[in-house]
Amino acid sequence: MSINPDKLKFFSFLLFTKLEGAVTSGMVHLGDQLGLYRALAAAPQPLTTTQLASTTGLQERWVREWAYNQAAAKLVSFLSLRSQPPDLNDDTFFLSPEQIAVLADESHPAFGMGMFHRLPQTMESLKRMPESFRTGLGYNYDSHGPDGAVGIERSFEPWNNANLIPTVLPATGMVDRLRNGVAVADIGCGAGGAVLRMAREYPASNFVGYDISHYALTRANERLRDSGLTNAHFADPRSEPLPSDNSVDFVCTFDCIHDMTHPLTVMQSIRAALRPDGNWLLVDIKAHDGFAMNAEKNPMASLMYGISVLSCMSSALSTPDGAGLGTLGLSEMTAENMARAAGFTQFDRLDIDHSVNAFYLIRP
Ligand SMILES: C[S@@+](CC[C@H](N)C(=O)[O-])C[C@H]1O[C@@H](n2cnc3c(N)ncnc32)[C@H](O)[C@@H]1O
Repeated sequence: MSINPDKLKFFSFLLFTKLEGAVTSGMVHLGDQLGLYRALAAAPQPLTTTQLASTTGLQERWVREWAYNQAAAKLVSFLSLRSQPPDLNDDTFFLSPEQIAVLADESHPAFGMGMFHRLPQTMESLKRMPESFRTGLGYNYDSHGPDGAVGIERSFEPWNNANLIPTVLPATGMVDRLRNGVAVADIGCGAGGAVLRMAREYPASNFVGYDISHYALTRANERLRDSGLTNAHFADPRSEPLPSDNSVDFVCTFDCIHDMTHPLTVMQSIRAALRPDGNWLLVDIKAHDGFAMNAEKNPMASLMYGISVLSCMSSALSTPDGAGLGTLGLSEMTAENMARAAGFTQFDRLDIDHSVNAFYLIRP
């Protein structure tokens, strides 16, 4: 078959847009880590690279090349005087309000630096992947080191900080019971943000966060100590399993069932832990049934399948008998079938708007 020169050019362009994204993502990581975005956000007027370098204590030549990458990628805004001959101080850089929200404002629900925080660790795992493709065995979350756990914390907490207490919990119907004092378990709790937030809001209830990541538990315990809260506790379920005596009122799983090697066993443990009138809030990626639907309906499908290989599916295959669901592996139908197989009889999707996640309320 002959090669169409236009299609060839277009395909090469398509390929290199992926490399552009990958390399620019590295620059986003640096912008966050080096405080460049925060400095631009805090500046009362657009900054030259000399001013930006001076504010951040960095070398101007490096900051300039970074700023050119960011402005060329349209992630950072710029103004140019275009004098002839061009002068270093012609170009000034600034962030629009939307760019500030996503790049520099950790308290904004749309803050997006978490996955970029852990980009080096995520990409580092590429070195382990050829072996995984041969053996079938992946790596759990601790393979991403302590910054992997912080990256996850920074990924999920901005939205949760703004929405968990006012929007998500009311939709579960659990608020009165939480106020009165009940037993709550957050499984796959990561760095513990949801547990700490709920424990602060509902002092009469008791919260246990479970995770198998040593780094996430260390971080969660540090934050627990700093918080001074006495109604929260973190545990590794391999040494301190979830109770199996139907004594827990509310179980949460945020973005973690698809990462687990044995999701059905965990669902069965949740069933055994929950009181007959208990509730399980399952939050997981809004996946569709099958690749074709995901590719058609999810503009981020290629990102998600890639993250799955490097992180989620790898974690879910980190034991030889792992289920390997992966990032887009827990569609609503799969979740419902698995929950019913684990002994639950009621499965409802909650009407909560989130760009990536779906919310389900599941009852015995
Ligand atoms: C994507 S993170 C989500 C963390 C947290 N729920 C959040 O929203 O920030 C997935 C977490 O699930 C944990 N995990 C995986 N398998 C687990 C298991 N069998 N039991 C408990 N936690 C598990 C991982 O260690 C990781 O911390």
